[in-house]
Amino acid sequence: MPVVTVTAPAPDSRYEIHIGHGLLRACAPHFAPYAGRRAAVVADSHTAPLYAQALLDQLRLAGLEASVMELPAGEPTKCPERLAGLYDAFLDRHITRADLVVALGGGVVGDIAGYAACTYLRGVHFVQIPTTLLAQVDSSVGGKVAVNHPRGKNLLGAFYQPELVLIDCDTLATLDARQIGAGLGEVIKYGCIRDRALFEQLERLGTRENLMPALDDVIARCCAIKADYVREDPHDHGVRMQLNFGHTLAHALENVMGYGELLHGEAVAIGMVAAAGWGEALGVTPTGAAARIRAVLAGYGLMTEAPPNLSAGRLAAAMALDKKAEGDVVRTVLLTEIGACKAVPLAPAQLQALLFAR
Ligand SMILES: NC(=O)c1ccc[n+]([C@@H]2O[C@H](COP(=O)([O-])OP(=O)(O)OC[C@H]3O[C@@H](n4cnc5c(N)ncnc54)[C@H](O)[C@@H]3O)[C@@H](O)[C@H]2O)c1
Ligand SMILES: [Zn+2]
Repeated sequence: MPVVTVTAPAPDSRYEIHIGHGLLRACAPHFAPYAGRRAAVVADSHTAPLYAQALLDQLRLAGLEASVMELPAGEPTKCPERLAGLYDAFLDRHITRADLVVALGGGVVGDIAGYAACTYLRGVHFVQIPTTLLAQVDSSVGGKVAVNHPRGKNLLGAFYQPELVLIDCDTLATLDARQIGAGLGEVIKYGCIRDRALFEQLERLGTRENLMPALDDVIARCCAIKADYVREDPHDHGVRMQLNFGHTLAHALENVMGYGELLHGEAVAIGMVAAAGWGEALGVTPTGAAARIRAVLAGYGLMTEAPPNLSAGRLAAAMALDKKAEGDVVRTVLLTEIGACKAVPLAPAQLQALLFAR
């Protein structure tokens, strides 16, 4: 059973990300250091019935007193009311600062459980067991935790690193194909921005089916890349913004089409092809990069074009409001080649012209 260990040094801690098959059903040794403590497992209505019992068995085997808190599946769960519910559940179960919170699920569970772990009693031990591809390669690495406010996504949050991340690739077997696709959008992004060899590996494999045997190595590579960014820029003030490649248009698409219409990673796929095209038009990105990225995304079953009925004007207006907008410019990430990128400030009018030129 391949197990890859990536060490992601955080500003104040180091932690390991273990990646392999069958990890969930054999994770007791990882919890041995916490023997005698309580574990509050936070899962959602999809992951709890599938995986909570196996995890509880392992936690108990390791000598912990474990129980599960189940939240409804879906983004609306990431809200202050559900967060308050978690605090109540922790109090009811007498969770103390010696105890730990374990997130078992996708990014929604990881984000809310992490924020709860960070704030409850000023911080309790936190372990992530991400079960979506997106959470495995993205949200479980880097320590960003948050809940949404009625006025915007992730407005209430913190940086809080887990002590351990366990990625069991076998959990992806129950994840629906669209969610896998959304994760693959971010996987392909890592190749585009920082790792030509990863991009070429994905290009060579070409389809989801061919990727499966290499998936644990690919996930490990993505975690290592994200861990590098986190090490270089733990609080997201600089180079970490490169992770936003494809996100300028993606956020606008999510906004204009209505949240939930496209999954985030699906919107990122469309945004990457567009941003590669903008880079080519501006002479920053070598000619042909956009076509290569489009071909790889299509091979993995992702959409590469925005739906035709969308108004370019509304998209341009939404892009100008992007949270990365500073002063009069929108900081957009463009590829300097496949495997490298830089942030380029673009004026909203310039973005609009690029968008209309498509
Ligand atoms: N913290 C960060 O750095 C960061 C980064 C990216 C995204 N996010 C956040 O992550 C969230 C999106 O995460 P997501 O895409 O994982 O969504 P999600 O957590 O909603 O999971 C998607 C769906 O898959 C289900 N599911 C999860 N694992 C499963 C499995 N193994 N088998 C079957 N079903 C399963 C979930 O119940 C849900 O219905 C957003 O809230 C986003 O803001 C955070
Ligand atoms: Zn993203």
